[in-house]
Amino acid sequence: MKQEINLLAALPQTKRNVTARATAKSPENVAAARQFGRAYFDGSRDTGYGGYRYDGRWVPVAKDIVRHFGLKAGDRVLDVGCAKGFLVKDLMAVCPGLEVFGLDVSDYALKHCEPEVVGRLHLGSAVSLPFPDGSFAAVLSINTLHNLERPELITALREIQRLSGGRAYVQVDSYTDEEGRKLFEDWVLTAKFHDYPDVWRGVFAEAGYTGDYYWTYV
Ligand SMILES: C[S@@+](CC[C@H](N)C(=O)[O-])C[C@H]1O[C@@H](n2cnc3c(N)ncnc32)[C@H](O)[C@@H]1O
Repeated sequence: MKQEINLLAALPQTKRNVTARATAKSPENVAAARQFGRAYFDGSRDTGYGGYRYDGRWVPVAKDIVRHFGLKAGDRVLDVGCAKGFLVKDLMAVCPGLEVFGLDVSDYALKHCEPEVVGRLHLGSAVSLPFPDGSFAAVLSINTLHNLERPELITALREIQRLSGGRAYVQVDSYTDEEGRKLFEDWVLTAKFHDYPDVWRGVFAEAGYTGDYYWTYV
């Protein structure tokens, strides 16, 4: 497949208060966010989401993903970095019979997942996906892989490629100019690797990742 396509176009744009985040940014808050625990998901905006709650915003995105990959009942889909399973839940709702699973490094998120996805979410890291080669009709990873250092990021992309054969979608943090980079650096808490789209394309190529991708801009 390999195309640059924004499968999150239907997601409502959130207004980010970059100034407030930049003011509060400290090594302590960064460290707290990187635990991916309560402080990150359901603590204050200074350490993460400031409340990561289901509100149905992923439903239109789930429809677009099903259409894009031509998914149908019986197909298996994996969401790497699934957090509380919002997208897992919505993919199953918009495509009855689709077998959707998630994986996340956060024990907290899995223990606070949506009731509909209990038993479908695996605790683990994107660098080692505990599933056979080619076992998914599509693998998704949204706003997650930039939380790895470059070598681990390459490993994670290879894992996604191994499971999906390139029927995949990856979205990561990026920017298009120096002003955007500065804004991003003021905002970011958890990302360990981020760069311009061209550099990302080089990373995808190095990993042999042939799936689809797009960027999150602050
Ligand atoms: C910005 S959140 C995105 C969550 C969800 N995909 C979304 O778009 O709403 C990043 C997620 O990546 C997870 N994460 C961070 N490092 C990870 C890793 N090495 N393997 C898997 N998940 C990881 C975090 O726990 C968190 O749930």
